[in-house]
Amino acid sequence: MANWWDRHVAPRMIRLCCAQPQVMKARSHVVPLAQGRVFELGCGGGINLDFYDLAKVTHLSGIDPTPLLLEDSRRKVAERGIASDIREGVGEDIPFASDSFDTVVTTFTLCSVAEPERVLAELKRVLKPGGTAIFLEHGRAPDEGVRRWQNRIDPIWSRLSGGCHLTRPIADAYEGAGFATNRMGSRYMPGTPRPVGWIEWGVATS
Ligand SMILES: C[S@@+](CC[C@H](N)C(=O)[O-])C[C@H]1O[C@@H](n2cnc3c(N)ncnc32)[C@H](O)[C@@H]1O
Repeated sequence: MANWWDRHVAPRMIRLCCAQPQVMKARSHVVPLAQGRVFELGCGGGINLDFYDLAKVTHLSGIDPTPLLLEDSRRKVAERGIASDIREGVGEDIPFASDSFDTVVTTFTLCSVAEPERVLAELKRVLKPGGTAIFLEHGRAPDEGVRRWQNRIDPIWSRLSGGCHLTRPIADAYEGAGFATNRMGSRYMPGTPRPVGWIEWGVATS
């Protein structure tokens, strides 16, 4: 059961942080690649709704465990008029059948799930053979000095930010889960302290 902070404060922080201009620019690199039947993990907030190419997306399914953020997603889906199935749920146990989706999308979500390896296995399960996983995540930086700071502040950061972690690998995690990964870009976000600002984006196939 989430505590008061996680239910009320963390979702509002997430809305603010996840819609900064440099984050929106990063979304524009990958989200428009989604096509066909799309599944978005951690769709809370609905921020990606502005970036889907509706000429290519035929249906959008999504899950998120945070009710306050799900309200935003449902409202934005309705505004854009996308055929959709948005449910409360977690990536460790995705409530959709195997081989259901042409594209799965995760943006700034693998940092927050409880069991990343299990979630990646679930994403692989629901993705059709030959389908594409699109990712844009923040996580473990390439520089040793930055990693040391990430390790130091991660315990307090994760308590304040709804379970988000700074220390998780991104493209390497997809590779470890058996995806062939094309990392299209990576950088420290400008204007953001390096320990919280390393992002990677790209596509992966299973
Ligand atoms: C930093 S927010 C990002 C939201 C959205 N994906 C975006 O790009 O703006 C992290 C999201 O992960 C969701 N989340 C946390 N644990 C999760 C889990 N186990 N499965 C799926 N989503 C989860 C949170 O509710 C939250 O909406």
